[in-house]
Amino acid sequence: MSDTEPKTNELINIPQHVAIIMDGNGRWAQLRGKKRVVGHKNGVESVRAVVSTARKQGVKALTLFAFSSENWQRPEGEVSVLMDLFMYVLTREVKKLHKNNIRFQVIGDISRFSDKLQTMIKSSEVLTENNNAMVLSIAANYGGRWDIANAAKKIAEKAVVGDITTDQINEDVLAQEMSLANLPELDLLIRTGGDYRISNFLLWQAAYAELYFTDVLWPDFQDEELLKAMSCFDNRERRFGLTGEQIKNNNN
Ligand code: IPE
Ligand code: IPE
Ligand code: MG
Repeated sequence: MSDTEPKTNELINIPQHVAIIMDGNGRWAQLRGKKRVVGHKNGVESVRAVVSTARKQGVKALTLFAFSSENWQRPEGEVSVLMDLFMYVLTREVKKLHKNNIRFQVIGDISRFSDKLQTMIKSSEVLTENNNAMVLSIAANYGGRWDIANAAKKIAEKAVVGDITTDQINEDVLAQEMSLANLPELDLLIRTGGDYRISNFLLWQAAYAELYFTDVLWPDFQDEELLKAMSCFDNRERRFGLTGEQIKNNNN
């Protein structure tokens, strides 16, 4: 479509915060008679595409599930390729993120990664910390239950030294200690690869997210597929426990 043509598909409600469970790399490769790791390598192109499209569409936060706390149990060779790939992508892509004014951060327990990878993660976070076009969070060695337990631990530490009393502990206090606390609420949670589950991703943060599941395998999920998901989000009515009538009245 040229710039002069009317844009009929412009979105009205842009999700401020989108998270994606990037699933289906292994099957994508196996369907082509290739090793699973070939799927992971091809998945990197999808990451580039969704980062760029999300930013262009005005999404303020994009959170991608790259490696779960359970993924360590995969065959050693696959885990090691994933770690190498993570390092390779960071080395190559962070400068581009910085140029595009994107802030980069990792959520999850990074202490289990190699020193080299941890140093690379930290320096990438520092380099991009003042950028404000979009926040790209990569969930690595992340688990939703770990996140909740970790928040509970931090609050317990404050209670032990007397900085907080048990009466003061509530949802808001817990929310402040969770990963992604300083970002807009999660609006849209996408899972590629055809399964209908959360796989221990953002358990707390997804409380009122709209869920979008697609059979498309991650290496095939690029600009058009993200726009499809966003357009589906655009047509949802979010009620947050209220009635449809209340929502309509509030909007008028
Ligand atoms: C998602 O793809 C990437 C990671 C979990 C690291 P998979 O590797 O899970 O691919 P499938 O689900 O086996 O096809
Ligand atoms: C979820 O995918 C984790 C990531 C995308 C990083 P999995 O492939 O690990 O999920 P399950 O095992 O099918 O639930
Ligand atoms: Mg999978």
